[in-house]
Amino acid sequence: MELKQAIEKRQSIRKFKGSEIPEHHLREIIEAAGKAPSGENLQNWHFVVIQNKETKAQVREIIREKNEEIALLVEQVNIERAQRFRKVCKNFTLFAMDAPVLILVFSGTYTPSGYIEYQLIHRPTQDLDELFYRRNPGMQSLGAALQTLALKAVELGYGTCWLTSGNYAGDEIQKWAKEQNIFYKEGYFMASMMALGIPEDGAKSPGRKPLEEIYTYIV
Ligand SMILES: Cc1cc2nc3c(=O)[nH]c(=O)nc-3n(C[C@H](O)[C@H](O)[C@H](O)COP(=O)(O)O)c2cc1C
Repeated sequence: MELKQAIEKRQSIRKFKGSEIPEHHLREIIEAAGKAPSGENLQNWHFVVIQNKETKAQVREIIREKNEEIALLVEQVNIERAQRFRKVCKNFTLFAMDAPVLILVFSGTYTPSGYIEYQLIHRPTQDLDELFYRRNPGMQSLGAALQTLALKAVELGYGTCWLTSGNYAGDEIQKWAKEQNIFYKEGYFMASMMALGIPEDGAKSPGRKPLEEIYTYIV
C-alpha cells in the first residue's frame, strides 16, 4: 500500500470485527512503531499487546472502577459533569476493551535538554515545568511511534483507535501490570492505549481544518 493511501485510509475505529489477529502481524506492527524517530534515540516506549479476553477484562474493570470513584466525588459538586464523565468512559474508553487487541503504551521518563541546566541555575519551577510538561520530547517521540503503528496497522488491513481518555487510571493499570508480572520498568509510566482490530464498516471521521489554517509559508 502506498503511504498516501494509508494516510488517507487511517481513521479512528471504535467498532471491530471479532476476528483474532495473528501474532506475526502484531510483531510487524510493533516493529514498525519501533522504527519511529525519538529524541536522543531513547526509544522510550514499551508496548504491552493484549489479545487475551480475561486480561482485557481486568484492564476494563480497573478503568471502570477508577472512573466510578472519580464520578462519585464529582457528583457531589456537579451532577451533569459526573454523568458526562461516565458516558465518556463508556463510549470513548471502555469500548476499546472489546477490540480484539488492546495495546498498553508505556513511556520512559524523558529529561529534556536544558532541564538540568535550569535546575543548576535555579530557574523558577514554572520554567522547569514548561520544558518538562508542555514541550516534553518523550511524549513527542511516543506520538511518532503511535502514528507509525497506526499506519502500519492500516497497511495490514487493520484499524486502530488511540486512547488517552482513560489515563486517569494509568497508575492503577501500571500497578496491576507490575503485580501480574506483565510489565515493569523503572521510570516507565502508562501513557496511552491503542485498540486494534479489523474495522467494522461505517466509521466516520470528523473533518479537518483547511490547509490555510494550519500552514504558514515564508517565502
Ligand atoms: C493523543 C490522542 C488521544 C486520543 N484519545 C482518544 C480517546 O481516549 N478515545 C477515543 O475514542 N478517541 C481518542 N482519540 C481519537 C481522536 O478522537 C481522533 O483521532 C480524532 O477525532 C480524529 O478522527 P480520526 O482519527 O478518525 O481521523 C485520540 C487521538 C489522539 C491522537
